[in-house]
Amino acid sequence: MSVLSPVAKKRSDYRAPDFLIDHVDMAFHLDVTQTRVISTSRFTRNGQHQSPLVLDGENLQLISVTINGEPVTDYHQSDEHLTLNINQNDFELCIETRINPQENKTLEGLYFSGGAYCTQCEAEGFRKITYFLDRPDVLAKYDVTIFADKTRYPHMLSNGNQIDKGELDDGRHWVKWQDPFKKPSYLFALVAGNFDLLTDRFVTQSGRSVALELYVDKGALDKGHHALASLKKAMAWDEQVFGLEYDLDIYMIVAVDFFNMGAMENKGLNVFNSKFVLADAESATDDDFFNIEAVIGHEYFHNWTGNRVTCRDWFQLSLKEGLTVFRDQQFSADMSSPVFNRIKNVQIIREHQFAEDASAMAHPIRPEEVIEMNNFYTVTVYDKGAEVIRMMHTLLGAAGFRQGMDLYFSRFDGQAVTCDDFVQAMQDATQVDLSQFRRWYSQSGTPKVKVTDSFDAKTGVYHIDFTQNTPPTADQKVKQNLHIPFKFELLDEKGNSISDDSVPELSAKMIELTSRVHRITVTGLQAKPTPSLLHDFSAPIKVDYAYSHQQLSNIILYSGDDFARWDASQRLYSRCIHNLAISPDTPDDELLDSMLQAVQGIFDIADVNPALAGAMLSLPSFETLSQQVDEIQVEALYHAQRSVRNLIATTLSDQWSTLYHKQAVVPYRYVADDVDSRRLRNLSLSYLVQAGAPQSSDILLAQFAQADNMTDCLGVLKAAQFGELKQFDQLMEQFETRWRHDPLVLDKWFALHANMERSDILVRLPLLLSHDKFSLDNPNRVRSVLGSFAFYNVLGFHAVDGSGYKFLADYILKLNSVNPQVAARIITPLTQWQKFDEKRRELMRYQLARIADCQDLSKDLIEKVSKSLN
Ligand code: ARG
Ligand code: ZN
Repeated sequence: MSVLSPVAKKRSDYRAPDFLIDHVDMAFHLDVTQTRVISTSRFTRNGQHQSPLVLDGENLQLISVTINGEPVTDYHQSDEHLTLNINQNDFELCIETRINPQENKTLEGLYFSGGAYCTQCEAEGFRKITYFLDRPDVLAKYDVTIFADKTRYPHMLSNGNQIDKGELDDGRHWVKWQDPFKKPSYLFALVAGNFDLLTDRFVTQSGRSVALELYVDKGALDKGHHALASLKKAMAWDEQVFGLEYDLDIYMIVAVDFFNMGAMENKGLNVFNSKFVLADAESATDDDFFNIEAVIGHEYFHNWTGNRVTCRDWFQLSLKEGLTVFRDQQFSADMSSPVFNRIKNVQIIREHQFAEDASAMAHPIRPEEVIEMNNFYTVTVYDKGAEVIRMMHTLLGAAGFRQGMDLYFSRFDGQAVTCDDFVQAMQDATQVDLSQFRRWYSQSGTPKVKVTDSFDAKTGVYHIDFTQNTPPTADQKVKQNLHIPFKFELLDEKGNSISDDSVPELSAKMIELTSRVHRITVTGLQAKPTPSLLHDFSAPIKVDYAYSHQQLSNIILYSGDDFARWDASQRLYSRCIHNLAISPDTPDDELLDSMLQAVQGIFDIADVNPALAGAMLSLPSFETLSQQVDEIQVEALYHAQRSVRNLIATTLSDQWSTLYHKQAVVPYRYVADDVDSRRLRNLSLSYLVQAGAPQSSDILLAQFAQADNMTDCLGVLKAAQFGELKQFDQLMEQFETRWRHDPLVLDKWFALHANMERSDILVRLPLLLSHDKFSLDNPNRVRSVLGSFAFYNVLGFHAVDGSGYKFLADYILKLNSVNPQVAARIITPLTQWQKFDEKRRELMRYQLARIADCQDLSKDLIEKVSKSLN
């Protein structure tokens, strides 16, 4: 590792900026290798002080500096700053810099890819464009003029409204944009290229007409309709649910193939990874359609939660991200199946967020210390952050939450604020005391609630105790009690919910846990009830209760909460799998029988609630199972999961066959009923293939030949891959021939190869990486090969000889100098060594140490590697 370790910034070190900027005028003379950027900013000194002006800037070639029109030479330049001694309190600073967009493979700042210019400024990318106060609490109005060749770059876009344009004699043209809203630099955007354009309009609730423009690669116009329709749904939803209306006359979305993340909410000009824009039946799956709607919603919702009210500093990231994820989750739930959506949210928490808590990267949703901000766009900040907002929604009720939101906007519109400001608004609007609740922002880790109960048959008295405890995490040893909304009910023998007016928690179906132990007593009961716990996953915690198999079956059949029914099914599967992992030679037949019976019952649910049944018939993932044990026994757990699935596949193969054939094949439409039906069809197919049921490969080949959509086509490939069918390679070849030209579909092909559980996977991977369509410069491609392998190829990545770890580390070292942000993301599975056996822990740490030894390691990797080696 480099001798000079970068220093961490601390949340507690926040200081208001020494200077403010209220207006910026920028001119961009676009050139692939030599773009000139001239920025003229109006500064004012903030408070009484003599401090110099310290501007952020990276990789910039400085051409000139003037203050109030006078050239300045008395400045100091370092790798990260430009420092000027200035006496004036108000002045205009004009800086000319030169940058090289083509060479910029980090995809941060201004970059050139796929023939177009594009920017990504969040979190600290604006400083790669010009010297500036690149921090979210400096809010300015922007005027931006773009100059470029007219034929190659007919579309030149920036934030706000286009106010002027013209042509030059030399074939160039120019366009001037003005954003009437003050914004932080991270929301700045510029795009220039030659696109196809899809347009539409949306009329807001107050009657204003907004122009909608979607820019896509030439020829991809037909794939933009779903995104545009999703945008209109999101705009209407935010008006209905939160009374929030769009505020500019134009809303633009641009889809690009080279993008580090999902998308970016730049004011009036969202930039998207094309994966979250482009879709048609043939090339996109139901999941793709779903994700597009969700991400389009997410970025749109940021216009209020993020843009109109932004973050004071980056430690407050969850202020906008947790809240906006919560909003997009609510939107998705309203657009389709609420329970299926909730299950998806919870799976992310259990697979990834719990894993982060268990690793050296554990942090609270509002981190205390950061070396590289890009490392903190995490499942903790985003998804656990959304869970924290959801808990407030639960505690305050929908109406109270809405009052809190209204107060938040009336207090803070146009400002850069903190998570505390948000919670205070929620509290002030409703008078609900959130003082203890605030600890969710500062405390990391996964809380556990242990539930124990006792029943006295003679007296009919039932006690149930809830005991909370948050185990220490790598970043924080001592934990406090949290304020936990815990939804539940008690079921009697017939499966009815027990009510008792003298027990308020029972009527409310919720307990607010605040102290370490909370007891509820219910009297006059005939028999011991079944507690159905953590309805709707009302808090991001683990619950421990010694359910009998019978109790789990009762919940599956009778609980009033569909989420709890699904959760009980998962508990039952998990129990079977862990049991078999520990003693593969002496299976607990009674347990397996009750599990199989429960599955029988779920087949009946498929008729009434296909979305729920689809989720209930899927086993917990390896990642979820891993978070349920202290030490992961890789092979044992993997094979146990497969055996249980195999048992369900073979014992119930007739039922799978019936379920498969029950699903009517209709021309593709992305509508909820059809989505649920396709899910059941492809799930059945995969069980049938796994069971090696008669005709299963005929069914599979027929589906492949007849499918008019990517969901059914990919369903075949996944079933063939998982079932290790001999036809798999041949189907993949056909698929490749057909889809070579389509990068998004080809990503699916790469991913299917990379997560194949085969013993020769480490011979096959290098072949994939030498494929003519593989490139380290393209983040989607890197994620589909290296990401899929490291996150999901259990046996390959965790090969006992350490070859999987070495393979990943080799590529991380290559990626380090190309795109550090992506490198730091796919290193995650290596940093989560803590729960593996000793041998694997050693091997993983060995590779981390190898990476640490690299000479020019990026800050992104230094932070993650050094934490993981501690
Ligand atoms: N604000 C964007 C979103 O959540 C994500 C930006 C991520 N940027 C980054 N440097 N990691 O919609
Ligand atoms: Zn976001």
